[in-house]
Amino acid sequence: MSLSSRIYFPPLGLLCFISLTSSWSYLEPGGTIDWSSKNNTCDETFQSPIDIITSEAIDKRFPPFHMEHYSTTADGARIVNNGHTVEVHLNQSPAPTLSGGGLDGIYTAVQFHFHWGSSDNYGSEHFLDGNSFPMEMHIVHYSQKYPNISEALTKKNGLAVLAIFFEVTNCNNTEFQCIIKKLPSLRNPGFPTRVYCNLLKLLPKNFDDFFRYSGSLTTPPCSESVVWTVYPKAVKISSWQINQLRTQLIRIYDGDRTVLVNNFRGLQSRNNRRIYKSIIDSGATLPRQFSQLVFLLVMILSVANLELFSSAGVI
Ligand SMILES: *[C@@H]1O[C@H](CO)[C@@H](O)[C@H](O)[C@H]1NC(C)=O
Ligand SMILES: *[C@@H]1O[C@H](CO)[C@@H](O)[C@H](O)[C@H]1NC(C)=O
Ligand SMILES: *[C@@H]1O[C@H](CO)[C@@H](O)[C@H](O)[C@H]1NC(C)=O
Ligand SMILES: [Zn+2]
Repeated sequence: MSLSSRIYFPPLGLLCFISLTSSWSYLEPGGTIDWSSKNNTCDETFQSPIDIITSEAIDKRFPPFHMEHYSTTADGARIVNNGHTVEVHLNQSPAPTLSGGGLDGIYTAVQFHFHWGSSDNYGSEHFLDGNSFPMEMHIVHYSQKYPNISEALTKKNGLAVLAIFFEVTNCNNTEFQCIIKKLPSLRNPGFPTRVYCNLLKLLPKNFDDFFRYSGSLTTPPCSESVVWTVYPKAVKISSWQINQLRTQLIRIYDGDRTVLVNNFRGLQSRNNRRIYKSIIDSGATLPRQFSQLVFLLVMILSVANLELFSSAGVI
């Protein structure tokens, strides 16, 4: 099914939230609210987000990712404050697609959105070694094995989400301005407007270094259909930029209008899931290759020594 033939909203909106008048909310940082009462899978065992412990992750070299049409100007892309986040719907043609990276087949990108906190100390959904980041971006894809995203989210590995952390610096990230400059017109939920972003430029430079695990949507219905790719290297934005996100948007829940911040779910337990790390960054692999080399040298030397000693009649 071609994305351009899709009515862009609300069907695609189903992914992270049901509708603008949805019945769930982030009550407080950490999401202590009980989403399981909504008759969905939010209390099951393979939920997201999780704290990724680097030292416990299993080394695995995944093949490189292939991203197609990520950098074409998102012609027809629309940005909206949906009451839970600011979200960009990608319905350009041809659609951006993702394959490789250990994924099974080709996935179509449908939307990206953000989770952020009211201070720099929290805001991301995933943690890395016990640390959170001020913001996290999710790029949501569904497998081309399925006709649409609603069908895909009922299937194991039906969705693939790229998770990108952000950290705060003093410099404005010019690539991120495409989002920031639209915020004044997104104050109230609803009212989408056109946006032009280069998705490739919002990714970390090395997008082949990542963590991989199986989890869920981080909002109701919490479907356990997501292949997660979490990038350890944070993208930089300025404190001025993140403060725009923290102050410009409004959400409405139970008739109350509040500033849209702290839209992240609390950590879920890992429950013995395997977390893989695929780090081919030279800084990370050099020590490994170096230690293998040292090991090899020691082996050669000890064999040589043995021969030396044995010929000398010591052994
Ligand atoms: C809850 O989920 C079950 C299983 O999917 C379904 O049969 C039932 O109708 C749902 N109940 C409500 C109130 O949505
Ligand atoms: C998705 O595809 C399924 C199976 O073909 C179909 O039954 C369903 O109506 C479709 N949903 C949407 C929202 O297009
Ligand atoms: C970032 O951009 C805003 C808006 O253009 C500007 O007011 C601010 O001074 C810039 N900050 C830096 C550090 O360049
Ligand atoms: Zn998300």
